[in-house]
Amino acid sequence: MVEDCEQQSHGQSSSGCRSLRSFFIFTIFLVLFLCYYIVPNELSESWAVAVGLFLPEKFTTKMVNDSLNTVPTVTSVEPWKPPEPYCVAYPHKYNLVLNEPEKCQRENPFVVLMVPVAPSNSATRDAIRSTWGSERLVGDKTVSILFLLGLPTSEERETLQQNLLRESEKYHDLIQSDFWDSYFNLTIKTMVMLEWLTVYCPNTSYAMKVDSDVFLNVKTLVSMLLSTPKQNYMTGLVARNAVVLRDPHSKWYLPKTVYEPPFYPPYALGLGYVFTLDLPEKLVKAAQRVKPVYIEDVFLGLCMTHLGIALTNPPDGSLFNVFPVEYNRCRYSKLIATTTRSLRDQVEFWKDLQRPGPYC
Ligand SMILES: *[C@@H]1O[C@H](CO)[C@@H](O)[C@H](O)[C@H]1NC(C)=O
Ligand SMILES: *[C@@H]1O[C@H](CO)[C@@H](O)[C@H](O)[C@H]1NC(C)=O
Ligand SMILES: *[C@@H]1O[C@H](CO)[C@@H](O)[C@H](O)[C@H]1NC(C)=O
Repeated sequence: MVEDCEQQSHGQSSSGCRSLRSFFIFTIFLVLFLCYYIVPNELSESWAVAVGLFLPEKFTTKMVNDSLNTVPTVTSVEPWKPPEPYCVAYPHKYNLVLNEPEKCQRENPFVVLMVPVAPSNSATRDAIRSTWGSERLVGDKTVSILFLLGLPTSEERETLQQNLLRESEKYHDLIQSDFWDSYFNLTIKTMVMLEWLTVYCPNTSYAMKVDSDVFLNVKTLVSMLLSTPKQNYMTGLVARNAVVLRDPHSKWYLPKTVYEPPFYPPYALGLGYVFTLDLPEKLVKAAQRVKPVYIEDVFLGLCMTHLGIALTNPPDGSLFNVFPVEYNRCRYSKLIATTTRSLRDQVEFWKDLQRPGPYC
C-alpha cells in the first residue's frame, strides 16, 4: 500500500495517496488518543467495543489485555472459567427477584430508560438518580428510569442482596433477575430487559438502553424522539462492518464455531441505543432462532438482521459518542449520549449544564 502511494505521488497529484496518508496520520492520532485516555480501571464496555471497532486486531488485543490486567477482578463464587464454547444461557426462563410491575402503568412514560448496572454498584445508581435520572418530565413527556441487575456473585452476596432490597423499597427503580450478574451474561441481561418491556410497558412509545458510565442528555433525547418513526426503529451509534476479533486473548473473542463471518452485521453500540416498543417482542422471538453471542449489542444486531429490520442512523452523527467528549456546555447541550471518564465527570457535567444562561 505504501509502495503504491510512493509511485502515485511521482505521477500527477493524487488524492488517493493523500487520503491514504491522512488515514495513517488519523490512525496514529487515534492510537495516541486511546493510549492517553484509556485509564486502567476505567475501561468500560462501550469503550472497549470501540477499540475493537476502529483498530487493527493485534493492537486492540494487546491494549485491551494490558488494561484488563489492571482491572480488579470480581471475586466470584467459583473460580472464573472461560465460557466454553462461548455459550450464552439464553433463551431460558429467568425469574424476577425484584420487580416494578406497575412502573409503566403508574408513570405512563413516553420513553423508559433502562440502565444495566452491577448489583454492587450503588454509587453509580445514586449518581444517576441525582443527575440525568432525575429528569422525569421534558415538556409534557414523562421519562421513567429503571436499573437492571442480575444476582450478585461476590462473597458478600447476602448482605448485598439485603441492601438491594432496601434500595428497591426506597427508590422503586430496580429490576433484578435470577441469573448471575457477570460480563459474559450481559446478553441475558439485555434479553431480560426486552422481555420485561414487552410485558410491563405495552403503552410506552420508546425505550433506551443506557450504559451506566454514560452522560445522557434527556432533553435532547426526547426532542429527537418527537420526530422519529413510531415502529421498527432502532438507533444509536450504528457500527457497520465491524471486524470479529479472532484472537483468543481478546476480551471480545468469538471463535468461528460460534460466529463464522469475518464481520458483524450492523448493530447499535451498547453505550446507548434507542428503540420503539414494538421491537422488544419481535427481538425476543427472533432470539429463539438466532445463536446467542455474549456481546449483547452484537446479538441484537444479529436479531435485527434475522428480522430484516434495518438500523437507522441518528439524525445527526454527533448525538451518540463512544469516546468521552471533552466537556463544553454548547456541545453537551446538543448531544444525546457520551461515555464519560469517571462518575465524577458525569455528575459535574450534568450540574454545569443545569446552570442558567445560554448554552452556546
Ligand atoms: C494477555 O495477558 C496474559 C496474562 O498477563 C498473557 O499471558 C498473554 O500473553 C497476554 N496476551 C497478549 C496477546 O498480550
Ligand atoms: C395500556 O393502555 C390501556 C388502554 O388505555 C390500559 O387499559 C392499560 O391499563 C394500559 N396498560 C399499561 C401497562 O399501562
Ligand atoms: C450466567 O448466568 C447463568 C444463570 O445464573 C449461570 O449459570 C452462568 O454461570 C452465568 N455465567 C457467567 C459467565 O457468569
